Amino acid sequence: RPIRLSDYRPPDWLVDTVDLDIALHPTRTRVRSRLRLRPNPQAAGPAAVVLDGDDITPLSVRIDGVPMADSAYLATPDGLTIPQPPAGPFVLEIETEIDPSANTKLMGLYRSSGNYCTQCEAEGFRRITFFPDRPDVMAVYTTRIEADRDEAPVLLGNGNLIEQGDVPGTTRHFAVWHDPFPKPCYLFALVGGRLGARTATFTTMSGRTVALGVYVESGKEERAGYALEALERSMRWDEQAFGREYDLDVFNIVAVADFNMGAMENKGLNIFNDKYILASPETATDADYAHIEAVIAHEYFHNWTGNRITCRDWFQLCLKEGLTVFRDQEFSSDMRSRPVKRIADVRVLRGHQFVEDAGPLAHPVRPDTYREINNFYTATVYEKGAEVVRMLETLLGRERFRAGMDLYFTRHDGRAATVEEFVACFAEAAGTDLSQFMLWYAQAGTPELAVTRRDDAQAGTLSLEIAQVLPPTPGQPSKLPMVIPLALGLVGPDGDDLPIRRAGHGPVERGVLVLTRAAETFVLEGVPAGTVPSLNRGFSAPVKINADLTSDDLRFLAAHDSDPFNRWQAVQTLASELLIENVAVIRAGGAVRHDGGFVHALAAVLADERLAPAYVAQVLSIPSEGDIARDIGRDVDPEAIYLARQALRRALGNDLAPTLRILYERLRQDGPYSPDAASAGRRALRNVCLDLLAAPGHPAAIALAAAQYSEADNMTDRMAALATLALHDTPEREAALADFFERFRADPLVIDKWFALQAMIPDPGTLDRVRGLAAHPAFSLANPNRVRALIGSFAQANHTQFNRADGEGYRLVVDTVLALDGVNPQVAARLATAFRSWRALEPTRRAAARAGLERLAGTASLSRDVADIVERSLGER
Ligand code: ARG
Ligand code: ZN
Repeated sequence: RPIRLSDYRPPDWLVDTVDLDIALHPTRTRVRSRLRLRPNPQAAGPAAVVLDGDDITPLSVRIDGVPMADSAYLATPDGLTIPQPPAGPFVLEIETEIDPSANTKLMGLYRSSGNYCTQCEAEGFRRITFFPDRPDVMAVYTTRIEADRDEAPVLLGNGNLIEQGDVPGTTRHFAVWHDPFPKPCYLFALVGGRLGARTATFTTMSGRTVALGVYVESGKEERAGYALEALERSMRWDEQAFGREYDLDVFNIVAVADFNMGAMENKGLNIFNDKYILASPETATDADYAHIEAVIAHEYFHNWTGNRITCRDWFQLCLKEGLTVFRDQEFSSDMRSRPVKRIADVRVLRGHQFVEDAGPLAHPVRPDTYREINNFYTATVYEKGAEVVRMLETLLGRERFRAGMDLYFTRHDGRAATVEEFVACFAEAAGTDLSQFMLWYAQAGTPELAVTRRDDAQAGTLSLEIAQVLPPTPGQPSKLPMVIPLALGLVGPDGDDLPIRRAGHGPVERGVLVLTRAAETFVLEGVPAGTVPSLNRGFSAPVKINADLTSDDLRFLAAHDSDPFNRWQAVQTLASELLIENVAVIRAGGAVRHDGGFVHALAAVLADERLAPAYVAQVLSIPSEGDIARDIGRDVDPEAIYLARQALRRALGNDLAPTLRILYERLRQDGPYSPDAASAGRRALRNVCLDLLAAPGHPAAIALAAAQYSEADNMTDRMAALATLALHDTPEREAALADFFERFRADPLVIDKWFALQAMIPDPGTLDRVRGLAAHPAFSLANPNRVRALIGSFAQANHTQFNRADGEGYRLVVDTVLALDGVNPQVAARLATAFRSWRALEPTRRAAARAGLERLAGTASLSRDVADIVERSLGER
C-alpha cells in the first residue's frame, strides 16, 4: 500500500504529444485524448501500457485509429491497462465523460461560482482522462476547449493561443492552446467562464513582449491591479536575481473562489485561490497584500523551478517547493524589509514546521514513503525545504551559490530531476563535498544545540563548546550529526562587533562556524572580557539553541546586537523564559512574577528612533501561545499559558502606557492608504500599541479601539481594532462584530475574516459561537476558505478553546472532519492535522485528544487522506 522512494523505476512508456479536445458542459463534459506513445528506451523490455484513472470510465479506446474490443483492455476504478500493446510507437485515443458540477473534491476539472477550472497537482489529471500520471512523463500538449459562448466567453489553456472561433450552426465556440514546452500532466490546466481581466504587457530582458492577464470574477477587475503589479515585479526580479527570463508569449492568472490550496503554477496559466489575488484598501489588510505579492512571485518563479525543471517523482517535491519558497522569500526581502521578512518567516517556521517536527507527523524534507502525497504539502517540505536551500547559500557564499544555481538551470532544463542532482550542481560549482549535507533531506526532526561558554580572560579567548542532538522521529530512532552553518557575532563590551578569529585557524569566513560533529569546541581569540556571543545570526540554521546566556547577556544583545534578527531574538528569549517560569507558577497556584528588566528592554527598543516601525512591531509582539507551548514541549497546559501571557500583556500595557499612547498618536496615517512596506510598518506598530494599551481592559482604551474600528478608511486598521475588541468581553465587541457583518456581507473573502476572528476568541462561549456560525447562511462546508476560516482557525489558533479540558473543542473538530471527509477529503485531512501535538498535552487533555483521534480511526470508510493522518498521529512516538 505505501509508496516507497526505493521502488522508483523509469516509466515503461513515454508520451511525446497529447492532443486534448474538451467540450465543456456543466454535467457532461466530453474529453477526447490522443496520445503519441513510444516505449521508453530506458525500460527493461516490452511492457503493458498502464494508465492511471480516478472516478472515470472509458467510452471508447482506439489504437492507431482502430477501435479496441472491450476485451483488449482492462478498465478498473484506478486505471486502464492494455496488456498487449503494439511493440513500437502508436497513437492511443480515449474518450471519457466527466461531471464537473459533481466534483466536490476540487481535484481534476470542477466548477467554481459557475466557472470551469482545473487542479491537477498532484494526481488530479487522472480524474480528467486516463494517463501515466507521474511527473517524469513529459509531453507537448495541444488543447482544444469548446463551450457555450454565453456560459464561458473566456477560454484559457496552457501555452500560446493558436486558433479560436465559433462552432458553426451552434451556440458554441472554441479556442486551441498549444504549449511547446514538454511538461508533466500535473501542470495541465484549463479555465472557462465569464471572467473580467486586468492586462498589461511585459518586455523581457531579451526584448520579447509577453501579454499578461489577471482574470477575476467580472466586476472585481479593480481588485486585481495589485496582483498584476506584483507579477511584473516578480518577472523583473527573476531576470535580475537569477537570470531567468519568461518563455511564452502569454502569462495568465485566474482567481477562483473554491480552491484546496493557495495557488497553482500550471504552465502559462496559474490558477489562484482568490484570497491571494483580490485586494482593495477597504477589503484587504497589509498582511493580505504581502501574501498576494509573495504567492504571485512563488507561482511565477515555479516557471523555472518546477516547470522548466520538474521533479522526477513526488518524493522530490521539495526540489521545486523548498527552492521556490526560498526564491519568493528572497524576492519579498528585496521588495520590503529583509530583517522584518526574516523574522516573519522564522515565526512561521517555528510555529508550523518545528511543531510538525516535534510530533507524530514529523517527516524528512524528502520523505521516503507515503500513502497519500497530498498530505506531504507540508511546512517541512516547503518551509524547512527553503531553509535547506538557504543553508547552502550560507555555506557556499552568494557567488558560489549562484554558480550552482546557474549550473542547475543549464544542466537540467527540460528534465525531471532529483534532489541528488540539485545538490551535485552546488558541490561541483563550489568544489566541495556535500555528502553530509544530504542528511538535511533525509533526517527528520529539529536539531538542538547546547552551547557552553568558557572565558579565559588571561589568554583573551572565548571557547564555545557546541553539542548537537537530533531527537528521534517516527521511523528514525537514531540520527547522525548534521552539517550546521552557525553564523556568529561577538558583541564586545562597548556594544560593537569584534572580528572573529579561531585560534590556530585565523579569521572565520563570513563569520560562519561550520559544525559537523556531535560535539566540538571552537576557541576564539582576541576576545576581551564582557564579550557576548550572538549565536545563529539571521537564523542561519533551522535549529533550537540552548545557550548559557544570562538575562543580563540577553538584555545586552537586545540593546546592542548589530544583527537585527538576533536583537529581536534576544527579546523573544527573555519573554519566553519569563513566560515559561510564570506558567509553572500559575500551575502551582502562585502569583506571577513581574519583570521590570524585561519591560525596560522593550522600552529601550521603543525609544530607539533609528529602528523601522515594522521592526519595532515585531519586537513588541511577544511569543504566541503556540510558541510558549512549543518551548515547554511536554505536559502542556494551554489555560496556564494563556493566563501567563495575558498577565505579561497587561503588565506591558500598564507600564508602557504613556509611550504607547504617544506612539499611537504620532503614527497616525496622513494621506490616503497605501499598501507599501513603510506605511504598512507604521500601521503595524500603531496597532500593536493599541492592542497593548487595551490589554489591561481600561474602558478608555476599549473606546479608543472602538473609535478606530468605526473611523478606519482601510481594512488593516479596521481589522486590527476589531481583533483588539475581540479579546475583551464587552458590548463594544458585539456591536463591532454585528457592524462588520452588515458592512461586508456581500463579500465572502471579508466574511472569512469575521469567521476567523470569532473562532479565535479565547472565551468558553466560543464553542457555541462557532457551532452557531457553522449553521450561518454565509458558511459552507463545500468551500475550503470558509472551512479554514471558521473551523481551521478554531483548531489551529484558539489554544484554550480547541484544547478545552472537557474535550468539547476536539469533538467539534472531529465532527467537522467526518462531515467534510465525504465532500473534500484533502481539506478534511488538513483539518485533522490540528491534533498533531496531542502527545505534548497534560494528561486530561491528552486523553481527550486521543479519544477524538480514535473516534476518527474507528470510522468506517474514511478517505485515504484522513486515514493516513489519523493513523500516523496515533502511531509511534
Ligand atoms: N504547487 C502548488 C504550490 O506550491 C501547490 C499545489 C498543491 N495542491 C495539492 N492539491 N496538493 O504553489
Ligand atoms: Zn509551490
